[in-house]
Amino acid sequence: MQKRVLSGMQPSGKPHLGNYLGAMKPHIELQNEFECFYFIANYHALTTVRDQKKLAEMTQELAIDYLALGIDPKKTVFFKQSDIPEVTELTWILSTITPFGLLERAHAWKDAIAKGKKNPTAGLFIYPVLMASDILAYQSDLVPVGKDQKQHIEIARDIALTFNSTYGETFKLPQDLIDKNVETILGTDGVHKMSKSYGNTVDIFADEAEFSKQVMSMVTDPARIKRTDIGHPEICNVFALQKIFNLPKIKEIERKCREGKLGCVENKKFLCETIFTELKNAREKRIELRKNLDYIDKVLNTGAKKARKVATETLDRVKRHTGL
Ligand code: TYM
Repeated sequence: MQKRVLSGMQPSGKPHLGNYLGAMKPHIELQNEFECFYFIANYHALTTVRDQKKLAEMTQELAIDYLALGIDPKKTVFFKQSDIPEVTELTWILSTITPFGLLERAHAWKDAIAKGKKNPTAGLFIYPVLMASDILAYQSDLVPVGKDQKQHIEIARDIALTFNSTYGETFKLPQDLIDKNVETILGTDGVHKMSKSYGNTVDIFADEAEFSKQVMSMVTDPARIKRTDIGHPEICNVFALQKIFNLPKIKEIERKCREGKLGCVENKKFLCETIFTELKNAREKRIELRKNLDYIDKVLNTGAKKARKVATETLDRVKRHTGL
């Protein structure tokens, strides 16, 4: 039997290079090999987005972005998290066997508290249980994500193990699928992971001027002031991205940088062009897709029907095993 892959993304901002390389691009590629379930995690986004119009808009935009990048609804089950109420029902059941301490140790929660987040909500605290529910409801084998989500998948696995040992075999044990080459894409500051919350993103569908501005703002090797200064590519984030986008030319880029024959500005321009070319078709497709929003709704509704069938089977099993 084909393995089942599942992953989700929050509609809480514009997709950036970290989302694209760490998740969206691998998601598209995996469609050729596995049975894939991908969804827009709008329930998770509710923990940060409090604007009705914005949430609805960003959900639709993310659906368009994903389809433009190549999600094939004929092959893949593509849906909105909130269309599957079984998942939220399962979240409650799983929360009754999830130790409080396990959630207190979750990085995202610890970071929020460390950053002094005011009035943290119960929703933010049980965020990993909802994520476990997403993963376990569809009996997923593999969960392709960036490294920042690894711990959440371990939590899902722990919850599945506890449930299975308490109530008998019910859930498959999921495994993360993380590509080492793109597990954490650093932001334009070259220090933190690329993330909207750090304001250090390169947004993949920003217009050409904005996109170029974001790439040109990337911090490079601080030892290079003039073009002729000797470069240290191993500490340069632009070089790290070149390794991903321009691998066939990487030896030449590295040599020229070390010899002070390739300036940072020139290097960034080249990177910009390559990414732009890679995303050209997706940009064009986005314009087409936006003209037919009924199609987007239809795809998500069809996906929700298929996803719901699987989630319902799992929930029925859970109810039988727990005596509900
Ligand atoms: P989210 O929306 O924050 O991110 C979506 C995906 O992008 C990856 N990512 C990165 N990868 C590499 N470098 C970066 N700088 C970077 N920034 C983001 C994330 O690892 C993720 O794969 N909780 C999840 C959504 C979710 C989910 C799930 C995922 C909800 N339920 C079930 C998998 C399975 C989230 O907030 O991702």
